[in-house]
Amino acid sequence: MKRIILLLLVCVGLVLAGCAKKPTEVPKATPVPTTPAISKPVQTPKPAVTPTPTPKKEVKTAQPTTIKCESCHTKAIDYPPHKEGGKYCLKCHGKPGMTVAEVAHTVHKGVIGCDVCHGKAPNLTIPKPKYPNQSVCVNCHNPKDPTKPCTNLVTVHLERGKYCTVCHTQPLNVIHKAADQYAKS
Ligand code: HEC
Ligand code: HEC
Ligand code: HEC
Ligand code: HEC
Ligand code: HEC
Repeated sequence: MKRIILLLLVCVGLVLAGCAKKPTEVPKATPVPTTPAISKPVQTPKPAVTPTPTPKKEVKTAQPTTIKCESCHTKAIDYPPHKEGGKYCLKCHGKPGMTVAEVAHTVHKGVIGCDVCHGKAPNLTIPKPKYPNQSVCVNCHNPKDPTKPCTNLVTVHLERGKYCTVCHTQPLNVIHKAADQYAKS
């Protein structure tokens, strides 16, 4: 009987040993799938994100240089202050207190002769404004023939390559300060 019990104990021991070996093999296998799971969030996409800001910067710098006033101000030529430009010529092309004659004589000195404005002797004349409330300057400065009339500030200047910003010299955000009202909360 003792031998039978011993044999049974040995058998049970072998079975237990066999069972014990099996579970040890399983945990060995489980760490293998966990390592690839860790390697996934190693963040290989992160270096792919950092190059993207550089094309964004290129877009931002390109925008201000390509801004053209006419893209929004398509009817700038029809604005009343531009159409009645003869009201303003002396302010920019003269100094405070200067008469029309003084401005006319100063800006055209060495550019055009007296006869262009006063005619030739003995038929000398004094030029008078053609348009009410506008200076005599707009009797001339037509882009096609500068001795023919043109009352429009934009036309007079743009045709000579003088863009909006020649007169509207303030930075774009200062000119458009009214837009800041939308920042009020
Ligand atoms: C993206 C559109 C846009 C662009 C580009 C733009 N403007 Fe304007 N601007 C406006 C709008 C809108 C107003 C407001 C019109 C209003 O309701 O009086 C305005 C108003 C103005 C005014 C009147 C400001 C005042 O306080 O009375 C001036 C002057 C002006 N713009 C000049 C310019 C000049 C010069 C440029 C180019 C350098 C320019 N704008 C480019 C949209 C634009
Ligand atoms: C808001 C200011 C302003 C007003 C108003 C103005 N001008 Fe000018 N004008 C300028 C500026 C600035 C220039 C560019 C000067 C330069 O490039 O040296 C210029 C340039 C010119 C030129 C071209 C000069 C050249 O070198 O080819 C002519 C012509 C001219 N203006 C005529 C006029 C007449 C006519 C009026 C009135 C209808 C007028 N301007 C109103 C500011 C003004
Ligand atoms: C761009 C046009 C223009 C040119 C060029 C010009 N003038 Fe004048 N001149 C005028 C205007 C405008 C007046 C003043 C008209 C008024 O007061 O209503 C004037 C006025 C005068 C007067 C009257 C007195 C005064 O000063 O008001 C004399 C004299 C005169 N000019 C002489 C000359 C002589 C000389 C030249 C050539 C060196 C000349 N002008 C060139 C436009 C011109
Ligand atoms: C009788 C016609 C006539 C009148 C009036 C006249 N101009 Fe001129 N102006 C001309 C001509 C012509 C030129 C030379 C051609 C050109 O620049 O387009 C000229 C040139 C100019 C120039 C450019 C000068 C340069 O250095 O090249 C300016 C600025 C100017 N005029 C402003 C004025 C102003 C301001 C008045 C009013 C006080 C005025 N003009 C009145 C005909 C006139
Ligand atoms: C020769 C000078 C000159 C040029 C060039 C010029 N402007 Fe002006 N602009 C003026 C003057 C002067 C006023 C009137 C300012 C005032 O009333 O105080 C004005 C007024 C304006 C206004 C306000 C209009 C209103 O009814 O109050 C806008 C907007 C404007 N300009 C946009 C432009 C744009 C856009 C361009 C180019 C396409 C341009 N300007 C070219 C001189 C100029």
